[in-house]
Amino acid sequence: MKILRDHSLRHLNTFGIDAAAPWFAGVTTVDELLEALAFARENGLPVLPLGRGSNILMAGDPLGLVVHLLIPGFAVVEDGPQNIRLRVGAGEDWPTLVDRCLELGLFGLENLVLIPGTAGAAPIQNIGAYGVEVCDVLDEVEAVEIATGRVRTFRNAECGFGYRHSIFKGDLRHRFVVSAIVLRLSREPLVSASYGSLAAELGLRGIIRPTPYDVAGVIRELRLMRLPDPKVLGNAGSFFENPVVDAVVAERLKASNPDLPVFPSGNGKVKLAAAWLIERCGFKGIRRGAAGVHPLHALVLVNHGGATGRDILALADEIRAAVRLRFDVELAIEPRVVG
Ligand code: FAD
Ligand code: EPU
Repeated sequence: MKILRDHSLRHLNTFGIDAAAPWFAGVTTVDELLEALAFARENGLPVLPLGRGSNILMAGDPLGLVVHLLIPGFAVVEDGPQNIRLRVGAGEDWPTLVDRCLELGLFGLENLVLIPGTAGAAPIQNIGAYGVEVCDVLDEVEAVEIATGRVRTFRNAECGFGYRHSIFKGDLRHRFVVSAIVLRLSREPLVSASYGSLAAELGLRGIIRPTPYDVAGVIRELRLMRLPDPKVLGNAGSFFENPVVDAVVAERLKASNPDLPVFPSGNGKVKLAAAWLIERCGFKGIRRGAAGVHPLHALVLVNHGGATGRDILALADEIRAAVRLRFDVELAIEPRVVG
């Protein structure tokens, strides 16, 4: 394994922002990962694990060692008549993994089709879409502690999963590098199709008893229609989380904004649509130099070409201030901001 100096990250973040890693290591095995982490410890360097850079904003150059996860792996660890446990290397491409499982008749990932990134990053923010989160199918996370090089396995219940949250963003923030995940998938075609826009689209097509393949197909089309392709227009998907507020707050907002979309979120909480709040503040499709808000989705900040991370952050600050002023709601940034 080579440790590189001043390595460009421009093609390693989906915003396409120009940044450079002072130290950079691409790791293809757990041994290489351990070696890279030992190097960082010996040299007192902080470590930034990097997958496909599809949930990162480079607001400057990262400090220390960027560890690019390229560890492959797709192995059956337990095979039963109904369920199968699959161990997947952290560097595996998530969308390719979902397609491969569908081809093999292994179900559970279909709602998470086309989410960019790596398998290793999936548990970090507990990726989710169309009514399913990775925690619904995730059994274990294998990870290496950055400070010690110790390998540890986290059971699902130990991961503190929530909406766009895990222990790796909470108490154990920046302390572990995921080397592999273990998924529990079903051989039975169990389908989760009750999510509003998914159910509506299936209904429109007259699909009454959808198969996992129908679900994946419809979601694929919805995503391609709504979200810009980072290869064409730099972005990191939703730039803000949907705010989860007390039911009384949602009622107050709904009273003055009857068409505000609200979604029950359990425990007396309600999820608001950040996109709607942002659109109502007049930001949809606007530009501030090379930074902008996508014309088809107000939650997606984009790089029209040549934006810096600071440009994107300045626009995000403007949006947050406007939403705070008009609705008294705080928006939290979803991607990791580096530098
Ligand atoms: P990176 O961006 O490289 O890293 C993200 C974070 O995880 C960073 O903090 C990084 O340090 C950390 N990290 C990465 N790998 C590891 C590892 N092996 N160990 C420890 N930490 C690690 N997300 C959703 O949840 N749902 C969506 O529907 C969705 N749609 C998107 C659509 C588009 C067009 C884009 C660009 C993004 C979308 N995202 C979505 C966000 C993104 O796809 C996910 O967060 C994905 O899991 C990021 O994977 P990555 O490998 O690119 O991670
Ligand atoms: N809406 C607007 N204006 C817009 C876009 C949407 O008012 O410009 C409204 C829609 O009418 C809808 C609501 O906002 O009522 C929600 O929109 P959408 O269904 O597109 O979903 P989202 O809440 O914006 C979330 C996730 C996505 C995930 C989709 C599908 C978050 C932060 N985002 O988006 O995840 O793919 O649901 O499940 O939870 C990501 O995290 O990067 C991401 C793309």
